[in-house]
Amino acid sequence: MLTFYKFALSNKINLFSLMATLFIGQNKVFLPETDSTNSYATTLLKNVNCMEGTVVYTNNQTKGKGQRGNSWMADSSMNITLSVILKPTFLPSKKSFYLSKITALAIHDVLTEILNSSQNDIKIKWPNDILVNSKKIAGVLIENSVTDEYLNWSVIGIGLNVNQTQFRELTTATSLKSITHKEASVEGVAEKLYIYLEKWYLKLKQNKFAEINEAYLKDLLGINEVMKFKHNNVLFRGTIKGVSEQGLLQILMENNIEKSFEIKEISFVI
Ligand code: BTN
Repeated sequence: MLTFYKFALSNKINLFSLMATLFIGQNKVFLPETDSTNSYATTLLKNVNCMEGTVVYTNNQTKGKGQRGNSWMADSSMNITLSVILKPTFLPSKKSFYLSKITALAIHDVLTEILNSSQNDIKIKWPNDILVNSKKIAGVLIENSVTDEYLNWSVIGIGLNVNQTQFRELTTATSLKSITHKEASVEGVAEKLYIYLEKWYLKLKQNKFAEINEAYLKDLLGINEVMKFKHNNVLFRGTIKGVSEQGLLQILMENNIEKSFEIKEISFVI
């Protein structure tokens, strides 16, 4: 074993990426087609006792759900459309936004590993969109069940554009292939995602909140910059100062007063 480690180190093999996960992706449910992996996973949770880390994935999601009631479109067999079942029963529901943070961080890590991060600007757009060079490459939809102020289960739905290059939202969407001009293995990228999601989930389980917050803010789009927003159909400028424990976006307004906004209340004007 020691010889193997020495070999790996001297050949600059990333030992971390060789390691399998402990639980995320150890049990997988493959659906050739489904309306939404999140809906399927939620139904599964309500009907059977499924293992933490179970991944529900599909080649063809016909009615993908997005944030704010939007839909999520992904061409068949070209992209990651999956849901990870977690059971964060250790996490108070008022801290549930940490699941958004760690998911965004995991996707950010995957993209940093695959893409040349000195040539590509990889950012987390609050609450948990992932942008590369200002275009959206991934979105996250988390659905939680709460009992007695603690989380019971969470379905972490992730859409990550891999090989699709034609988008209805041509100017705002992108994929790995659009950036690298090379096909990538959808399964291979998903495997990396399981590794990084488990890494961040275990940090959450160890209450490493400060580390998670620091990493999230480091890659947050617009942190400490003046940005344009829309609230109640009114445009305004403000500086993003952070994100509260509950997931509210904290903005320093032009009158120097700090205000916090919920996801439904505000949108970025880019
Ligand atoms: C968004 O950015 O609006 C969130 C998009 C989330 C899409 C994923 S794809 C897999 C999972 N199943 C769904 O129905 N939605 C999520």
